[in-house]
Amino acid sequence: MSTPNIGNERFNAEAASWDQNPTVHKASALAVEAILSHVPTLKTQPNTIDVLEIGCGTGLLSFLLAPYVRSLTAVDAAQGMIDALAVKLSYDSSPQNIHPIAASLSDPNDPVLFLDPLTKASIPGRRFDLIISHLVLHHIPSLPAILRTMHRCLREGGRVALSDFEDFGPEAERFHPQARMEGVVRHGIKRTEMAELMRDAGFVDVRVETAFEMEKGVEKTPGAGVVKDEGGTKMVFPFLICLGVKSR
Ligand SMILES: C[S@@+](CC[C@H](N)C(=O)[O-])C[C@H]1O[C@@H](n2cnc3c(N)ncnc32)[C@H](O)[C@@H]1O
Repeated sequence: MSTPNIGNERFNAEAASWDQNPTVHKASALAVEAILSHVPTLKTQPNTIDVLEIGCGTGLLSFLLAPYVRSLTAVDAAQGMIDALAVKLSYDSSPQNIHPIAASLSDPNDPVLFLDPLTKASIPGRRFDLIISHLVLHHIPSLPAILRTMHRCLREGGRVALSDFEDFGPEAERFHPQARMEGVVRHGIKRTEMAELMRDAGFVDVRVETAFEMEKGVEKTPGAGVVKDEGGTKMVFPFLICLGVKSR
């Protein structure tokens, strides 16, 4: 888990300009809204939950969730994304409860996960109350493996809230322009498949629901590029939220 995925050239290259894309801000805000409504403890008992975010990118979700959580351990496979997040965290006004880590998640007992972002103490065997990821599952080659790892990273009674766009059929492929297909291993996640995989990984109280819908510019024809002005082609994409609990 502690080995950064240095082959992740696409996300390393995109990291510096990631926050300039209004679509990723919009999607992050909608995802956080969905997480807050499905995990009410974040609001009813603020600052009590330790969160692990997988595929945090530049920390758009992390920053929005930080006021509600005790700590947030933000993991991303692309060193460039983590470097961009670290710069944002270095400002005085930034949240102090986020800890960025460049890594691909595979080992729940990797010591990099043990550091408590608030106290800076290393707590062997540290586990989390909530695991989140947004727009990441469609990049993960083995969903069964990542779900098993997530399950092992949770405390008993802990939960996951994972959002991504839905594979609703062949048109879902238009979510990404042709030039940004690197690292895309599936065109969205499938409702029934996700629920089955989550149960197989050991989760209970599994629910996979539509979280929100979002309009997004798409290519008129494959490879044509996304036209951003009024004349551009747009499509509405459904996003799913995958919820599950690690039984006590
Ligand atoms: C589409 S971006 C989303 C970033 C961020 N969640 C956002 O919405 O702005 C997907 C991110 O997942 C990361 N990623 C892909 N596979 C990963 C893995 N196995 N572990 C951690 N991060 C991963 C990529 O490096 C990339 O930053």
